[in-house]
Amino acid sequence: MRLKNKVTFITGGGAGIGKCTAELFAKEGSAVAVLDRNVDKAKSVADSIMSMGGKAIAIEADVTSESQIIQAVKTTVENFGPIDILVNHAGVIPDGDASILDVEEETIDQGLAINVKGMMLVGKQVSRSMRDAGKGGTIVNTASDLSQVALAGLVTYVTSLA
Ligand SMILES: NC(=O)c1ccc[n+]([C@@H]2O[C@H](COP(=O)([O-])OP(=O)(O)OC[C@H]3O[C@@H](n4cnc5c(N)ncnc54)[C@H](O)[C@@H]3O)[C@@H](O)[C@H]2O)c1
Repeated sequence: MRLKNKVTFITGGGAGIGKCTAELFAKEGSAVAVLDRNVDKAKSVADSIMSMGGKAIAIEADVTSESQIIQAVKTTVENFGPIDILVNHAGVIPDGDASILDVEEETIDQGLAINVKGMMLVGKQVSRSMRDAGKGGTIVNTASDLSQVALAGLVTYVTSLA
């Protein structure tokens, strides 16, 4: 068990790659805080981990809200102790993404708020928590090879990854 006694905070842990990461980290011995704006999905992942003997909690939060992130970090530390690992994963292809010719302001705002601002706010609050605990930690920010490719119909998504 490569992550025995570690504490991991995963955003977007309710689905996709975040869900698989939460399950794998728990299997490797880490306690896992599964954060998602969709709390039903987060609960389902946390329940599945606990049913296999792992440690997990589900946390409902939106990464675009700093106050919600502060509370989520506090809840994690209260339940499991200091955070060792951040998997900064929550991200979206925003609704209605389009080419630069057609993209709506609302779509740009949504994509950048989650993929850029959200990642920074979570990084800020978990880094502070790690600093305050005085033992350092590991931060994994999910990226994509699409940051290197100009996909004409997904201008907000590829811009947010650059
Ligand atoms: N799927 C891929 O092939 C792939 C490849 C490379 C990179 N990525 C990156 O991974 C990230 C997520 O991809 P995925 O495929 O796992 O997505 P997904 O849609 O399967 O899961 C994303 C999860 O994040 C949650 N989420 C979305 N916005 C949130 C918010 N504001 N606050 C809290 N939770 C939020 C969703 O509810 C969902 O559970 C994206 O940033 C994407 O760029 C994905």
